[in-house]
Amino acid sequence: MLTLPALIAHPGVVLAGATDLRPEALQRFSEEFGAPGYATLDELLQDETIDAVYIATPHDLHAVQTLAALRAGKHVLVEKPMATSVEDCLAMAGAAREAGLALIVGPSHGFDEQVRTAASLVASREFGQVRMVTALNFTDFMFRPRRPEELDPARGGGVVFSQAAHQIDVVRRLVGSPVTGIRAVTANWDSQRPSDGAYTALMTFEGGAAASLSYSGYAHYDSDELLGWISELGQTKDPELYGQARRQLARIGTEGEQSAKAARTYGGDGPRSAKAPHHEHFGFIIVSCEKADMKLLPTGIEIYENERRIFHPIAPPKVPRAAVLEEFVAAVAGRPTGLHDGQWGLETMACCRALIMSSSQGTDVDPRKIITDLQVENFK
Ligand SMILES: NC(=O)c1ccc[n+]([C@@H]2O[C@H](COP(=O)([O-])OP(=O)(O)OC[C@H]3O[C@@H](n4cnc5c(N)ncnc54)[C@H](O)[C@@H]3O)[C@@H](O)[C@H]2O)c1
Repeated sequence: MLTLPALIAHPGVVLAGATDLRPEALQRFSEEFGAPGYATLDELLQDETIDAVYIATPHDLHAVQTLAALRAGKHVLVEKPMATSVEDCLAMAGAAREAGLALIVGPSHGFDEQVRTAASLVASREFGQVRMVTALNFTDFMFRPRRPEELDPARGGGVVFSQAAHQIDVVRRLVGSPVTGIRAVTANWDSQRPSDGAYTALMTFEGGAAASLSYSGYAHYDSDELLGWISELGQTKDPELYGQARRQLARIGTEGEQSAKAARTYGGDGPRSAKAPHHEHFGFIIVSCEKADMKLLPTGIEIYENERRIFHPIAPPKVPRAAVLEEFVAAVAGRPTGLHDGQWGLETMACCRALIMSSSQGTDVDPRKIITDLQVENFK
């Protein structure tokens, strides 16, 4: 639902077929786009008119479906998280490379326009070297209607796979150099929603920069307050609706939760969101360079230099999430994108895994070592 406007708007994309377990979604797709709805992925992959697939199924299907699509010769855009294990990401990135097919992981908030602009300011060294990134996000993620597996740690449930995958992408893009270590603590403190609902982490980078990341999905403090009450999806938010996610969940109960989740999905009976007036964002982010701090906002970037403070506005989005389609279409056309490809997704997933390992072991974990250890193991 969130990527559909960008898929429809891109002149290089024609929606030529879809598959889903729910017949109502297939029927709606055929009516809306005049293209076939296939009962299985295998049938869809046999359709020779289809060049590329966008995979937006539950996390634990991403690897098997991506590998099947690549085997069938299709380019793949796969939702974040790329998969639920680093092993799977390694296989996916390798399969795309060997087949010479595009594999892009996204959309993540690493594609957000203000992140792109700030990353190019960092890379220009206009304000000296990047030294520190402060990223925090306090949301109601754990109290939105969820499928059971979204709260099951064994199936990639909780906030690390779903949300750190965004925050790590953002921070990696801003700093622009490899991650050398992560020290983190994850937290699971609400027995009503037993899964990791929060984390805090310190990431270090080649070149000496460091980033602190905090995330809580427990629906208490809302960091959108720090972003002018603009929501993650770029909509204006009413602070008076405090507690709404918890109240709604308490009202509908476990039975109602499944239907509330399905209503928000394609083919469901929930309303489509109105066009967002602002860019999407992923919470409060400050990039500290030697000569200035930059605050990323959905409307632009506030730059705090030694003796002046300037606002660098960013024009409102024409279509949300257009950047991911730009990158995917370019990759399919064989143009180098060098950003959110399989290797990038693999490295972000290694950071998510390092975050979890660091918390359970109480030590620093180097995500690069997680990848090289697996490569050595696979080579044996
Ligand atoms: N990039 C973002 O900002 C963002 C936002 C939301 C969700 N996501 C990602 O999208 C993915 C889906 O999440 P969601 O919240 O949209 O879930 P959802 O339940 O709303 O949608 C999943 C869809 O997959 C279908 N499905 C399930 N099993 C299938 C199968 N075997 N074959 C074909 N279709 C199948 C379901 O019927 C449903 O239509 C997750 O990986 C999630 O992380 C990303």
